[in-house]
Amino acid sequence: MNVTVVGTGYVGLVTGACFAEMGNTVTCVDVDATKIEKLKEGIIPIYEPGLEALVTNNYSAGRLRFSTSLEEAMAGSNVYFIAVGTPPGEDGSADLQSVLTVARQIGRYMGEYCVVIDKSTVPVGTADKVCTAIGEELAGRKAEIPFDVASNPEFLKEGSAVGDFMRPDRIIVGTDSDRAREVLRELYAPFNRNHERTLFMGVRDAEMTKYAANAMLATKISFINEIANLCDALGVDVENVRKGIGSDSRIGYSFIYPGCGYGGSCFPKDVRALIHMADQCRLPAGVLQAVHERNESQKSVLAAKVRSHFGDDLTGLTLGVWGLAFKPETDDMREAPAIVLLGELVAAGARVIAYDPVAMEMARQVLPPKWFEDGTLRLTEHQYAALEGVDSLVLVTEWKPFRHPDFGAMKRMMKQPVIFDGRNQYDPAALRQTGFTYYGIGR
Ligand SMILES: NC(=O)c1ccc[n+]([C@@H]2O[C@H](COP(=O)([O-])OP(=O)(O)OC[C@H]3O[C@@H](n4cnc5c(N)ncnc54)[C@H](O)[C@@H]3O)[C@@H](O)[C@H]2O)c1
Repeated sequence: MNVTVVGTGYVGLVTGACFAEMGNTVTCVDVDATKIEKLKEGIIPIYEPGLEALVTNNYSAGRLRFSTSLEEAMAGSNVYFIAVGTPPGEDGSADLQSVLTVARQIGRYMGEYCVVIDKSTVPVGTADKVCTAIGEELAGRKAEIPFDVASNPEFLKEGSAVGDFMRPDRIIVGTDSDRAREVLRELYAPFNRNHERTLFMGVRDAEMTKYAANAMLATKISFINEIANLCDALGVDVENVRKGIGSDSRIGYSFIYPGCGYGGSCFPKDVRALIHMADQCRLPAGVLQAVHERNESQKSVLAAKVRSHFGDDLTGLTLGVWGLAFKPETDDMREAPAIVLLGELVAAGARVIAYDPVAMEMARQVLPPKWFEDGTLRLTEHQYAALEGVDSLVLVTEWKPFRHPDFGAMKRMMKQPVIFDGRNQYDPAALRQTGFTYYGIGR
């Protein structure tokens, strides 16, 4: 098939590369000309395991193309994926500006029957808006061209996006049209070889499924974080509690790791968007509101522990921070707990030396330039260099190289052997025996 993917970010680029890998001809379109030029040179704008090889191989084979012109990309293609960003607006609602701009452009340029597929995470009812936007453009052109709008939300996880796309748990397709259903069935057939994973449903059902999935996962995290804080107060080790409840098959072990809050471009914004949808329906969203609020305050838990150990004024202290990305295996720092932590440490007067295996370039772009200029924040090229002469280590992201470090060497490098473990990676008893003062989350 000849496929156009509009929006070449985490989702669009992975989607385009994976469809190309299955033999389709794909054009990835983006308004960001620098990004498109870099991609043509084989430079991948994001860190995502396995993506670089997939993109360069398919680009060399001519199956994957990049363009800033949607009009050009649409020629010869009648399957259009919309994968642009849907950032949160002031009121928490998903901002549909980019989605609807693309919809109008499609209406302007389409020449024959096409299927327009919303892959971006969009509120219930968006497919109708996309349909209206295209229809208005067609009416303006006095053109009567049939088209269908389907919903195909994406469930990939940053850090394992290629694997998730290639071997999805499920493929959700929302459409009321037989014609669109057949197009999507054919396109996804190579991903269903092992067994059928596609669930066909109504468009609105598909739109809601994406939000409900993310909200459920965010709820699990906020729930265990709340339990962890209670464990802290009651002298309970939440790690034992986690294993104790995870062994119940109705609960399971995934997504109940206590920590310093969830971040990223999806959970925070999608929970807020769902709250906004409930508001619009004049329905209470008490659970979702609590999930959001727990997460906001959870991002401050580490800094609070630092202040409770050293005192409110951290002037004169230098703290080492391991991990800046919102989770391992990505350079994405959108809504990362590290941003809140650094802000609070700096506000209390501390200096920080930080290290992340891949997110340092991103950190330079998103953190206040002033911190770098006045030496408040220094980034190092090696994880142990972030510990030279520091008064403590704060672990924020559970990258694998942080999991089993050389504690003996760390103790010799650090001015004070104090560890704040924001992801419960270490064994408190073993660390205390080695002479560290250890603080975890809920233990
Ligand atoms: N990142 C994830 O892990 C993930 C997972 C599942 C779903 N989603 C959803 O997928 C959507 C995209 O997310 P993302 O993380 O890939 O975003 P992103 O910010 O990485 O990429 C979006 C891209 O769209 C481009 N764009 C914006 N307006 C455009 C326009 N009018 N025409 C062409 N390109 C345009 C931007 O330049 C950018 O490159 C969002 O709705 C998000 O919620 C994201």
